[in-house]
Amino acid sequence: MTKGRIFSGMQPSGKFHLGNYMGALENWVKLQHEYECFFSIVDWHALTSSYEDTSKIPERIHEMALDWLSAGLDPERNVIFVQSHVKEHAELHLLLSMMTPLSWLERVPTYKDKLQQLGVQGKDINTYGFLGYPELMTADIILYKADIIPVGEDQLPHLELSREIVRRFNNLYQPIFPEPKPSLSKSAILPGIDGRKMSKSYGNEIPFAASPDELRARVRLMVTDPNRVKRTDLGNPDVCTVYTFHKIFNAEQSNEIAQSCRQATIGCVDCKKCLADKMVNNLADMHVRRQELEKNPGRVKEILVYGGERARVVAAKTMEEVRQAMNLA
Ligand code: TRP
Repeated sequence: MTKGRIFSGMQPSGKFHLGNYMGALENWVKLQHEYECFFSIVDWHALTSSYEDTSKIPERIHEMALDWLSAGLDPERNVIFVQSHVKEHAELHLLLSMMTPLSWLERVPTYKDKLQQLGVQGKDINTYGFLGYPELMTADIILYKADIIPVGEDQLPHLELSREIVRRFNNLYQPIFPEPKPSLSKSAILPGIDGRKMSKSYGNEIPFAASPDELRARVRLMVTDPNRVKRTDLGNPDVCTVYTFHKIFNAEQSNEIAQSCRQATIGCVDCKKCLADKMVNNLADMHVRRQELEKNPGRVKEILVYGGERARVVAAKTMEEVRQAMNLA
């Protein structure tokens, strides 16, 4: 007995950092033990806002698969696949587009915001495909009749639209699809090494693929309490990025660390070393898995082909029902 079926996807938009992992992927790794899961690298979605230069797509798909597998997503337990390998996503997207009022798409709050925001950056995404972003997302989800969708808060308006589209389809034709419900993943709490939000554009990120040595180097660069200049100065852990990381990666010792910092019985160098040891230790399994996979890139490809085949079986069955319901069979 499974509790339900999960679908989620991510755009292959470059290398993960540790904040991305903690924000979403860590949650998926837990969910895989409780639900039947479909996880898709949504390359067509990446084209909706970035269609001019497609040269990096294969490399980014490979990197994303590496990140997912290193994190511990099990390719047997879950169906892990690339969206464009399963053409049924495109067929269902087309059929849904026939019955979706334009106004529903235009009023999705993220639509105009993002159009404007990307326009300022000089990107012209006044396209049919970009408007249809949540339409494609709906096709992704309902093709597998998924009912639980782990996403970040930013995706809630899209899911609301998905439910409206599902209701319309079920009313017009036949009640084939369940209404997908969001399962909110708690937002990332991990700051960057300078204490601001972790982001590649700030250069403050810790790469998810960092080796133990690279991890240690990033921890050494972390910003500490600016008022603690000398080793003997009393510190304030509440304004220290290293301490924020201790709370996440070294929870059991974090009270002790805070006290030692306040009393200056530990210095920042040792405090960072202690954190780096914990982080290296916590992430050790992932490094091992990544190293194994990096030795064998063909294996990653195989896993995606295998996932695509399994996804297609489910997708083809749903499409048969859809065609029947719409008299297209
Ligand atoms: N829009 C999602 C994001 O950017 C990615 C996505 C595409 C997705 N299709 C999906 C998420 C289906 C959940 C379900 O995060």
